[in-house]
Amino acid sequence: MKEWTKEERYRPLNSLDEIRELEEKIKTSPFRQGFHVQPRTGLLNDPNGFIYDDETKTWHLFYQWFPWGATHGLKYWYHMTSKNLVNWEDAGIGIKPDTDMDNKGAYSGSAIKCNGEIYIYYTGNHRDENWVRTAYTCLAKLKSDNSVEKFEKPLFGPEEDYSEHQRDPKIWYDEKLGKYFIIIGARSKDDRGCLLVYESEDATQGWKLKGELNVKGYEAFGKMWECPSIEKIGDSYVFIFCPQFIKLPGRGEVTNHNLYVIGDLDMEKMTFTPTGDFKHLDLGFEVYAAACAANTEKTFDYKVLSAWMGLPDAVYYTDDEDWSGCLTLPRELHIKDGKLLQKPIRNIFDAKKEMLYSEGNAGDNGSTENSGDAGSVASAGKYYEIKAPSVWELATENDDFNMEIFCDADGNGGISLSYDASSSCLKISRAKLKRKINPEYGEEREVIFENAISKLTCFFDNSSIEIFFNDGEEVFTSRIFPDRENGEKYLKLEGIKKFLAYGL
Ligand code: FRU
Repeated sequence: MKEWTKEERYRPLNSLDEIRELEEKIKTSPFRQGFHVQPRTGLLNDPNGFIYDDETKTWHLFYQWFPWGATHGLKYWYHMTSKNLVNWEDAGIGIKPDTDMDNKGAYSGSAIKCNGEIYIYYTGNHRDENWVRTAYTCLAKLKSDNSVEKFEKPLFGPEEDYSEHQRDPKIWYDEKLGKYFIIIGARSKDDRGCLLVYESEDATQGWKLKGELNVKGYEAFGKMWECPSIEKIGDSYVFIFCPQFIKLPGRGEVTNHNLYVIGDLDMEKMTFTPTGDFKHLDLGFEVYAAACAANTEKTFDYKVLSAWMGLPDAVYYTDDEDWSGCLTLPRELHIKDGKLLQKPIRNIFDAKKEMLYSEGNAGDNGSTENSGDAGSVASAGKYYEIKAPSVWELATENDDFNMEIFCDADGNGGISLSYDASSSCLKISRAKLKRKINPEYGEEREVIFENAISKLTCFFDNSSIEIFFNDGEEVFTSRIFPDRENGEKYLKLEGIKKFLAYGL
């Protein structure tokens, strides 16, 4: 693996011409994704400034970007736009770390639309000559030509009573109180993850610290909370955050998590009171820094979430190809019976192309080209070649099932899922993967489902798997770097009663 010097990590990009060659090289990778936002070069991490402009009917999404290769260093915001959350247009660099306040990176943040303008709040990661960090909360305006105009001065600097780790502003407007709020993820001096709240009556000035939001029961839960947000979905509030430096049951050695907690928010009393336990946003191995799009309330009755399909400090197979990371497929967040449901963004189904396979009474719309075996089929269960990108709609009759995803024609390699209906237990393993992905964090997951699994909607891209269970009850996400040339390209299904597979 490449060793990066500090100089290489903090080398500014003066012109996109400087990465053209790298970009051409990366285009030849078999792991470039078909329907996921991915970095043109270098490393992508958090989704930032995600917002729906209801006037132009355009989604704006930025990603944290390090242009030169697969490492963390001087971060930019790279801008993408979309009309449907499926097809994305490249809008170029959004925010450059080119001022004193963000001299060592334009770190994560959020956006809001007010008075017809889109404002962006981000963390200016400033370091002095002794490498001492000061985190500023900075403001910029996204203009109609997609250029970004920074405000000259930060809105506020760090709180001295806390550690240097204060970042990732999430802004919202509270209609009832007639105030804007920003929450910042922070690490206290005694190593507690926490939330700092700022308030103002004007989105662009006059911000004052209001204090710490008391998230009841989470007073000692990890040392730092990254990328926090509180989303109102229906009548419920969902607190989404990334606690760090904490191990959680069933998650091996992983110490960076993306969780959510449903509860009641009272900004006057400065409390968030959970109404249940925390849950992992994803059953899988790679989801972090999730963010919901702002300004969707007037148009949609659900929230839209995107997350980094990666983890801090993890390494991926494409690191040697000088790129890493992608975003998850956007998900719709709904609340039903007090529970959070995550569904694939509905427009992805419009992108369905020809039917690849079908079996059982899954449908009758046309050909079942290639239906059945992949050729040299071994034991029980059928094998299908995974054409990526594709979507597979699977149904079971509340029975046991097994899936080997991206295995070879003998069932070796790949990711396996096995479900035991009598205990409603789903076991997931990536222990057999030929190209291992951070095995030191643990390769197994075991989850007891509340309802029997009866439906799976699977999205396979060239280097990722996303499976939505029971119309959004749970989601499983993983990167995967199949060795297709040596046969790691099949899906083996056992116990699945019917399915349809379409190209995307
Ligand atoms: C989360 C994070 C944020 C920070 C950004 C820097 O992945 O560490 O807290 O703003 O990435 O790229």
